Amino acid sequence: MDVMQIEDSMGLTVCKRQPLVIERGEGAFVWDQYGNELLDFTSGWGVTCLGHAHPVMLAALAAQAGRIMQNPNSGFTYSPARARLLLELQQVLPAGLQRVYFANSGAEANDAALKLARKITGRQRVLAVHGAFHGRTLATLSVSGNAGNSARFLPSVPGNEFADVNELAAMVSADIAAVIIEPIQGEGGVRAVPEELLQQLQQRCREHGALLIIDEVQTGFCRTGDFFAITASGVTPDIMTMGKGIAGGLPFAAFAMTEALAGAVQPGDHGGTYCGNPLSCAVAAAVIGHLREQQVSDHVKVLGLSMLQDLNTLQQKFPDIVCEVRGRGFMLALVLHDDGQVWPLTEACARQGLMVTPTRNAVVRLLPELLLTETEWQLGLSRLQAALLQLRAQSEQAQCA
Ligand SMILES: Cc1ncc(COP(=O)(O)O)c(C=O)c1O
Repeated sequence: MDVMQIEDSMGLTVCKRQPLVIERGEGAFVWDQYGNELLDFTSGWGVTCLGHAHPVMLAALAAQAGRIMQNPNSGFTYSPARARLLLELQQVLPAGLQRVYFANSGAEANDAALKLARKITGRQRVLAVHGAFHGRTLATLSVSGNAGNSARFLPSVPGNEFADVNELAAMVSADIAAVIIEPIQGEGGVRAVPEELLQQLQQRCREHGALLIIDEVQTGFCRTGDFFAITASGVTPDIMTMGKGIAGGLPFAAFAMTEALAGAVQPGDHGGTYCGNPLSCAVAAAVIGHLREQQVSDHVKVLGLSMLQDLNTLQQKFPDIVCEVRGRGFMLALVLHDDGQVWPLTEACARQGLMVTPTRNAVVRLLPELLLTETEWQLGLSRLQAALLQLRAQSEQAQCA
């Protein structure tokens, strides 16, 4: 079967593709159609937090699939798997955010948060940050600050405004329904919001009755070290959205809100056929339980720091290509001098057996699985170095020609 030919001719291609057919994965590694092994430093865009085919996930998936995948009348009926997941979340969610609703994707969770903010505040305007990414539904595109993504689908949901992160707090006023913000921008290029700014934002929102929506879709579930990236800031948002790592690879998402807000949500305000379906809940509960029991947070903090140091050393060897490295935990970025080098570096990495994520604003992201070992990191680093050498050689050849 010619997988690429079938997908190219019959599928609707909505993104640039790498010429790779990925057949299977195990831990931090994947294998292509020729049996070549590649180290996955993308985690499928920050999703497979326990790596590929983790036994804990497989066991939960098989056990729940054999019991029930979708309840009769879906959310009208109760589910032990959903209850187990709620109990797991209770142990890791920031204090004060204990009321949870489930969704199918990060965009849907954000969309619901924006929708509920309108209802709860009776206001319409939403503030977002330049360069933010909150999803690809109409409402979430309207608060995603990349004109390239949203300008093709005008008009946007009206009443939204973008600002630089350090101007945002001052813009919160009595007609703002919500501010939505990622603690560390992912698609925007791994750019962290200073903790003081998050604290100011929380204060201004409280003063003016606006809701603070923190989007932890990419940063949550130990990706940046703490269970959530806002943990260290002490900020408690009104709504926090989650996705990606929450179920380690099963399409799933959630949002949590304060008890006070939950009181304003009524039956019918939000819903969806698959929201909180037992299969996804069982896997998410297993993933979160594993992250917690194995203290993955500590591992990510410790190894993440030495990974960042190693990348700084690498940057010093390649100052002609890499101008900066940044990030927290296992959410790391190489910032290149030239945006045009992002795809060539991504492809050079793949040739060396390393998958990395090409990102806008001249950034290549590294989002390895959270159980990555030091040895696996060193292997990836050596492959990254080989790819950078290859890129340098290509540039020198092009200059000579
Ligand atoms: C911060 C953030 N929010 C929302 C989304 C959208 O999530 P999904 O692709 O699951 O809809 C993403 C996806 O990359 C994201 O990084």
